[in-house]
Amino acid sequence: MLQMQHATLQVEHATLQVERAMLQMPRVIRQTEDAVRQRRIGTTQKREGHMSSDEKQLSGPDLAQGIPLADLPDGGQLVGHSGGAAVLVVRRGEEVFAIGTGCTHYGGPLAEGIVVGDTVRCPWHHACFSLRTGEAVRAPALNPVAAYKVERDGDRITIRDKAEPPPRQQAEGPDPVVIAGAGGAGNCVAEILRREGFEGRIVLLAPEKEPPYDRPNLSKDYLAGNAPEDWIPLHPREFYDERRIELRQAQATGIDPQAKTVALSDGTSLGYGALVLATGAEPIRLPIPGADLPHVHLLRSLADSRALIEAAKKAKRAVVVGASFIGLEAAASLRAREVEVTVVAPDERPLAKVLGPELGDFVRSLHEEHGVVFRLGTKPKAIRETEVELESGETVAADLVVLGVGVRPRVALAEQAGLEVDNGVLVNEFLETSAPGIYAAGDIARWPDPRSGQRLRIEHWVVAERQGQTVARNLLGRKERFDAVPFFWSQHYDVTISYVGHAAKWDSIEIAGSIPDRDATITYREGGRIAAVATIFRDRESLQAELAMERGDEAELARIVAK
Ligand SMILES: Cc1cc2nc3c(=O)[nH]c(=O)nc-3n(C[C@H](O)[C@H](O)[C@H](O)COP(=O)(O)OP(=O)(O)OC[C@H]3O[C@@H](n4cnc5c(N)ncnc54)[C@H](O)[C@@H]3O)c2cc1C
Ligand code: FES
Repeated sequence: MLQMQHATLQVEHATLQVERAMLQMPRVIRQTEDAVRQRRIGTTQKREGHMSSDEKQLSGPDLAQGIPLADLPDGGQLVGHSGGAAVLVVRRGEEVFAIGTGCTHYGGPLAEGIVVGDTVRCPWHHACFSLRTGEAVRAPALNPVAAYKVERDGDRITIRDKAEPPPRQQAEGPDPVVIAGAGGAGNCVAEILRREGFEGRIVLLAPEKEPPYDRPNLSKDYLAGNAPEDWIPLHPREFYDERRIELRQAQATGIDPQAKTVALSDGTSLGYGALVLATGAEPIRLPIPGADLPHVHLLRSLADSRALIEAAKKAKRAVVVGASFIGLEAAASLRAREVEVTVVAPDERPLAKVLGPELGDFVRSLHEEHGVVFRLGTKPKAIRETEVELESGETVAADLVVLGVGVRPRVALAEQAGLEVDNGVLVNEFLETSAPGIYAAGDIARWPDPRSGQRLRIEHWVVAERQGQTVARNLLGRKERFDAVPFFWSQHYDVTISYVGHAAKWDSIEIAGSIPDRDATITYREGGRIAAVATIFRDRESLQAELAMERGDEAELARIVAK
């Protein structure tokens, strides 16, 4: 942990001056600067500790020498350094906070995020840190940034020493907590339980032999060969050992809600005080001839990604079936490995069902610029060893096939236990299923979303992690409603699309800025109301839109997206 913090502190980003100057630049120059910077440091893939040396240069005032408080107006912030580490200083009224500048998720520049109360939100994937303690209070960041003591002497402030982490309270909860599924959601249940002071037994069940890992990276830099394997675990195994979180390599095969026991694939069973179902989703294998040939790959697990990497080393031509996020990200990563790629999908445009035609065309053009060939409006009819036959009658040569045709929530356990299931495990606003003491989170959970008034089941990493965090607190009796605004990001080469809210359908799409110029806010309205907002290189707008959605401030939301 200390090592991670230390590494994080070496992450250096924009100074206030640079930020101010950037704000005054024409947007297109800022966007180019952003693109260059993001490319240089690996955009969303860089973990702390892997920054290039120029990223480690310090700038701004030496805070250990002190600065006049007047340099920091109320509501203002600046970046300086202390003890060789970059520090973000934020003033709120009479309070001054100081924390590290680099997000512990992938190193995003916190100084370019937004401050909300006594927290700061990361511009890249919307993690949230306490300015008081440095704690990562909302996923996807899991580890804290350093917090510093702010000393005041008259009209000067000095920042020299790190603050001690806050003392942990003890928290009572049902014992043991058994978590079926060690993915994004399950991991967060376990680690937040411990962080909140739960001392009882925690068992995290999963068939994988690896500790919980960063699933989104499996189709991105890891697959492309730009992220080493040691970036993939969410934490080292010792993290779990130190916190007495038992990682048990076994599947839950049955639940007896009356007896409060879970049967395991190794033939044993476990009693539980509370049970969390976080079994994620299962990739779909197409029911066509050849879909089970050895060169046909799915992409869900680390083992899948490893197998695909091995296959890509020998492959010359790949067919990716499905123009979904995973299919397209896999296509981009295979291009990075110099494999020729044809994407085959029944849709007219990639991603249009989720992002609309304009963004769909843009994403298509990005991939075409990188040499990806599309065969749209058709499906594969049969897969053979060296080719894929399409329903259109065409055949496409392929010695590697990736199926990215969607997933199904793994709800078998819940169904067998008699829980209410309807396109996912039904949960209430506290994420508890129809059986008291059994919770569900992540890709399998269908919850009542307060903003849309609908039940949603969303297959996104940040949603899964935040649900896991909420479940943990509810296990400790907090009665916290899950009301986080859904957020996801998707990466296509050097372009990241951020998306807040949820629009399963829409009546209209409005575009502010320019999608081809990579500087745009895309607003999806349903019944006149803003249901979701996608952005390209407008990270602050994405954060502001998320905040306005959280606050139910529709007027502010309309103002943000109109810019
Ligand atoms: C390649 C890839 C890239 C992605 N990229 C993005 C992205 O860029 N942005 C984004 O927002 N989302 C992305 N996603 C989606 C995101 O990863 C999922 O929404 C998220 O992982 C869901 O978390 P979860 O905990 O519900 O399930 P998972 O993370 O899938 O974890 C489920 C766990 O349950 C285990 N399990 C299953 N059955 C049992 C059982 N019976 N007993 C015990 N354990 C069991 C599984 O083995 C696994 O460990 C991506 C997904 C993939 C596969
Ligand atoms: S880099 Fe900060 S949330 Fe991802």
